[in-house]
Amino acid sequence: MNAKQAAAFKAVEYIKKGMVIGLGTGSTAYWAIQYQAERVKQGLQVTTVATSAETEKIALQCNIPVVSLDSVEYIDIDIDGADEIDADMNLVKGGGGALLREKIVASASRAFIVIAGDSKRVEVLGKFPLPVEIIPFGWQHTARQLAALGCSTSLREKDAKIFITDNGNYIIDCHFGAIAEPAVLEQQINNIPGVVDNGLFVKMATRVILGCDDGTVKVFS
Ligand code: 5RP
Repeated sequence: MNAKQAAAFKAVEYIKKGMVIGLGTGSTAYWAIQYQAERVKQGLQVTTVATSAETEKIALQCNIPVVSLDSVEYIDIDIDGADEIDADMNLVKGGGGALLREKIVASASRAFIVIAGDSKRVEVLGKFPLPVEIIPFGWQHTARQLAALGCSTSLREKDAKIFITDNGNYIIDCHFGAIAEPAVLEQQINNIPGVVDNGLFVKMATRVILGCDDGTVKVFS
């Protein structure tokens, strides 16, 4: 078992019969879906809500029942990956472009378990470019206002085309280098007209599970 698999496996142990589970997006969350699928095959009854179209597709292929977020009152446990995690369990997310739905699902959850290889742990957030979801209208103006906060910006592309999120929006990756005050920056960014949300998840995680290459895990809460 590698680091990502170890973290994912541990997180799935928290799932109990009848729970509503948030399914994250990315290569670590992928493993949580696979381990959950094994338990579903053995008879575990769960309902899930996906954080992206890609995740929904994977879950359905594994015969995991997926429902819309609005068809549940709340989510018991959301299990998702992260691009950076600091000592206060603040996160940068959105490397896979799913940050908006990931944040909505996490905020609808009673528990938000973050899973990652231990290389994602950082002293200061910001080396990983911060993804910001913006609406396409006037995007260059929005990008300039983001740059004025002290970063260089790049419009995300995929296969030489502009990357479009599941919500029909663009992603601007903001290269800050270091983010001294994540809570302040999260709000400053979201105050810019045209911004839908950004990949700073401040004080949202209730538990962080870091996997190591030897298959062991470290759990923080
Ligand atoms: C997707 C995300 C992912 O959780 C994040 O990018 C980590 O991905 P991975 O587990 O593949 O390293 O936020 O939008």
